[in-house]
Amino acid sequence: MSDASDHRAPSGELVLSLKGVSKHFGAVSALTDINLDVHAGEVVALVGDNGAGKSTLVKVLAGVHQPSAGTITFRGKQVTLSDPATALDLGIATVFQDLALCENLDVVANIFLGRELSPLKLDETAMEVRAWTLLNELAARIPSVRIPIASLSGGQRQTVAIARSLLLEPKLIMLDEPTAALGVAQTAEVLNLIERVRDKGLGVIMISHNMEDVRAVADRIVVLRLGRNNGIFYPDTSNQELVSAITGATENAVSRRAGRRQAQQELREGGQP
Ligand SMILES: Nc1ncnc2c1ncn2[C@@H]1O[C@H](COP(=O)(O)OP(=O)(O)OP(=O)(O)O)[C@@H](O)[C@H]1O
Ligand SMILES: [Mg+2]
Repeated sequence: MSDASDHRAPSGELVLSLKGVSKHFGAVSALTDINLDVHAGEVVALVGDNGAGKSTLVKVLAGVHQPSAGTITFRGKQVTLSDPATALDLGIATVFQDLALCENLDVVANIFLGRELSPLKLDETAMEVRAWTLLNELAARIPSVRIPIASLSGGQRQTVAIARSLLLEPKLIMLDEPTAALGVAQTAEVLNLIERVRDKGLGVIMISHNMEDVRAVADRIVVLRLGRNNGIFYPDTSNQELVSAITGATENAVSRRAGRRQAQQELREGGQP
């Protein structure tokens, strides 16, 4: 594990702090005794193998699941996230992996889905201006806010989903696998977008299986394994160390391969007269 002293301590205020959070589904312990801190202006990558509890943790913070134990402190106050609306109102936004955009509706309609300004009389102009402002703040490359989602690329859709999550001016945004379905250029664009969100002073939690993306954008890397904390790392941590923490094996495919290379090298050197 990296020594925290070689790394700059996060300078932003503590936005979110979890202490001893557990979540059981009947006999299944999806999360056990989780601690997690996120500061303003910080990207925390949440990594772990399939079934490690990443999505469960995001759902607890999104108000979808109630924790079985532990406390959640948000902006200095202990909170109960009893449903998704409560989490949103407090300032916790979530971009779920499926994005939940409406294909046939345009960008403006999607950004305001269910939150149309002035419920009695929709002010289309105001919504369009607000949509453009949000997208411009993200320096997003969307050709027009009046085209249907169906005609956008994967990266552009992710952008619209992120812009939508920023509508209520959250303090924390959670992104579940934001680059999973994207090509190289679109991935780079979404990673830039995440940096811009961070630079606006938000706390960001990003779930990803892609260690390259994680290293590119994360300030800290939090590993979950079998529903428990399994180390906090920094982007300069070696791949081997990260993989070991994720898989829980010091003897895993990566270290075995490295070990084999070393053994072959020694054999070659030893074999020379
Ligand atoms: N609603 C549920 N009911 C019962 N068990 C659940 C439920 N949701 C998650 N689990 C269990 O909790 C554990 C953690 O699942 P979770 O979806 O949080 O993992 P994950 O880290 O997101 O994995 P992946 O990388 O595959 O998305 C798994 O064992 C899963 O089967
Ligand atoms: Mg998941």
